[in-house]
Amino acid sequence: MLSTKLALTAFFAVSPAFATLFQSRDSTENANSSQWPAPPANGGKAWASAFAKANATAAQMTVEELVNLTTGVFGPCAGNLGAVPRLNIPQLCLDDGPTGPRDVHGGSQFPAELTTAATWDRELMFLRTKAMGQEFHDQGVHIPLAPVTGGPLGRTPLEGRGWEGSFTDPYACGEASYQYVAGLLEGGVAPVSKHWIAYEQETFRNPFGLTESDTPFPLLTMHEVYMWAFAEAVRAGVSLVMCSYNRVNNTHACNSAKGLNNLLKTELNFQGSVVSDWGGQWNSVPSALNGLDISMPGSGDGGVLGDFWGDTLITLVNNGTISKDIVREKVVRTLTPYYFLGQDVNPLPPFIFNLLFPNTAYRNVRKPGTAELIREIGTSSITLLKNTGGLPLRNPQRVAVLGNDAGNNVLGTNACGPTNSDCPLNNLVSLTTGGGSGSTFAPYIVTPLDALTQRVIQDNAEIGAIISHTNNSAASEAILALLPDVDVTLVFLNRWSTEGADADDLVAQAVSVSSNVVVVIHTTGVVNIEKWADNENVTAIVVAYLPGQEAGSSLVPVLYGDVSPSGKLPWTWGTSLADYPVSKRVVDDHVLSPQANFTEGVFIDYRWFDKQNITPRYGGCFPFGFGLSYTTFDYSDLVIDSKGSKDNSSVMETAEPFVGSDGTNSLYDVLFTASATIKNTGNVTGSEVAQLYISIPEEGEPVRVLRGFDKVKNVTAGARATASFPVRRKDVSVWSVVDQQWFVPNGTFKISVGSSSRNLPLVSIFISVGTLFADSE
Ligand code: NOJ
Repeated sequence: MLSTKLALTAFFAVSPAFATLFQSRDSTENANSSQWPAPPANGGKAWASAFAKANATAAQMTVEELVNLTTGVFGPCAGNLGAVPRLNIPQLCLDDGPTGPRDVHGGSQFPAELTTAATWDRELMFLRTKAMGQEFHDQGVHIPLAPVTGGPLGRTPLEGRGWEGSFTDPYACGEASYQYVAGLLEGGVAPVSKHWIAYEQETFRNPFGLTESDTPFPLLTMHEVYMWAFAEAVRAGVSLVMCSYNRVNNTHACNSAKGLNNLLKTELNFQGSVVSDWGGQWNSVPSALNGLDISMPGSGDGGVLGDFWGDTLITLVNNGTISKDIVREKVVRTLTPYYFLGQDVNPLPPFIFNLLFPNTAYRNVRKPGTAELIREIGTSSITLLKNTGGLPLRNPQRVAVLGNDAGNNVLGTNACGPTNSDCPLNNLVSLTTGGGSGSTFAPYIVTPLDALTQRVIQDNAEIGAIISHTNNSAASEAILALLPDVDVTLVFLNRWSTEGADADDLVAQAVSVSSNVVVVIHTTGVVNIEKWADNENVTAIVVAYLPGQEAGSSLVPVLYGDVSPSGKLPWTWGTSLADYPVSKRVVDDHVLSPQANFTEGVFIDYRWFDKQNITPRYGGCFPFGFGLSYTTFDYSDLVIDSKGSKDNSSVMETAEPFVGSDGTNSLYDVLFTASATIKNTGNVTGSEVAQLYISIPEEGEPVRVLRGFDKVKNVTAGARATASFPVRRKDVSVWSVVDQQWFVPNGTFKISVGSSSRNLPLVSIFISVGTLFADSE
């Protein structure tokens, strides 16, 4: 008798919440604003005229008007600021989230950040958020609550929101964050990098008013791990930053003068405003002084998640507790990006969400080309983990499809509601996006079964599908009857479900009667595939992440070999939870102040696997950056050009301290450029993600860290392409806890280039003494 439980075994559990990290590398404390005062904004490199305009406007405002722009009020969006009509400032709309405008129909369901990360293609990262930004804009969202910028980053595969972000590596996450911010800005909206900072679990995330326990933690590895991607977002010109639910060193992240005034606004020189996560604020006075600029949702939800500023802030200003200048500064920080983006001269339409009748909120804002872009991202993300001949499909005449992940929701598209989590059947459907505030309605979903059916029609072939919408095992008799005579069996699994036996059963049944089983996994993260990954009848394993509305149409061209797979893992796929640094449920002790000690330090994901010498065996365990193709690539000619160049990528400049700073150079100057030749040695056109890792000669540093990647695209059989990797001063620096600045260690650096974190055929070394190479011109 087969189990009636749900899909694939997941060695993650319920998403966790939060607590503590500390301290070996980064001995910062969360003192208050007298130790870490708020730096005055100045508009930074790119926002000078918008800053002047914001100042001029804010100077005319009464206290009430100023406060109106600091505190959420009731309105149609997830968050709404108060309007100041006499100064031509409308009610600013803040709305989720990272896969498109939430709660409103008429937009696209974009692939998740995770999916886009798996493309390792900066151009697609940018184009995705540019298209998404246009949709936000046209839906009337001034401030999209996106992107997720390394919070969560991924210290454990247990994280419930890992899929909302991208890579588990700080450098790669930073590259993605830069592009995601740049794209949203290009779309005309004000991006919000979230969640600052070290937000690595959901359990006990505890918004104000809904809590049982507090959520503390300290700051280990702040600079090298958790701040890195936010620094990239700031450089790209991010408009707002959202502080997170967790505590940092026992101080709430939204109330940490060290975190907000010092690290974010002084060290990263962030010129925009800080918005609380919904219920992330815990008091009125300290938070006003410690760096918070916008209270959300404010009174917008009737105060359930805290009702701190608003009228209270007016009183605090009027009685002299908080100066009007402090409030004015907050407003300037919010209005500067608003003017910079021209949202005043080209007003956005009103957001049309209808609280009482959500499904009536429809405005079609989709543009020509966006569906194709979504398809391209999906195709380009698809990661082939195993292939013993199952793929590409070669004109199969009889195709069997198993698994509810292949088909649409039996209740209807979008039936799981605006957070994609309201289904009695627990999402036994093709998983195209995750659940929670990061989900989006789809205008339609091309399921894998839809797209396969179209292909079979085109090929004059036959398709049989067994999709149970109650459980994956119910159809066992039918499976046994169908499979022996087919050319290929495609099994579709997903990781939405919380219990795992059935999907394993599904594969087990398939391999017992079919010798050509191709497994496709739609997933929010790593899952346990140990039971069957090495089975010889499993002839291919494909990961398709969360592809959005074009799930089937992005997948089928890869299955049939029209396009060679070129996605690579944005995290390490271990064989068991015990492989990871955080290998039990994160922190779920019901105590007043649960602590998560980030004792793994800088060693998350592949850095941990390298340090512990956990060897990928290419069965269930696949290394960071791994992915197969239908062709093969040869790596040669690693060349290092020591001619540097000035930083030309910082839209805004950070003020991160570093040894050797002379006022004319930058942490982001390129010190040298490595390049390598990639030859397509197979028979078909393919794209390859070449990766550069550096071993930094400093005690306590990882065996290697990713410091460059370049996707060479559409390389024809026999042709060569050049991958190039500009390496900046920061990329070869480490953070000195003692001196509180970045420095380039003396010693021998090893540079390795290859196709994954564990396949690095090209190696070069260089010695650093004093300063690295010649200083850039
Ligand atoms: C809470 C989530 O943590 C955050 O990401 C989201 O933007 C807000 N809710 C608003 O929906």
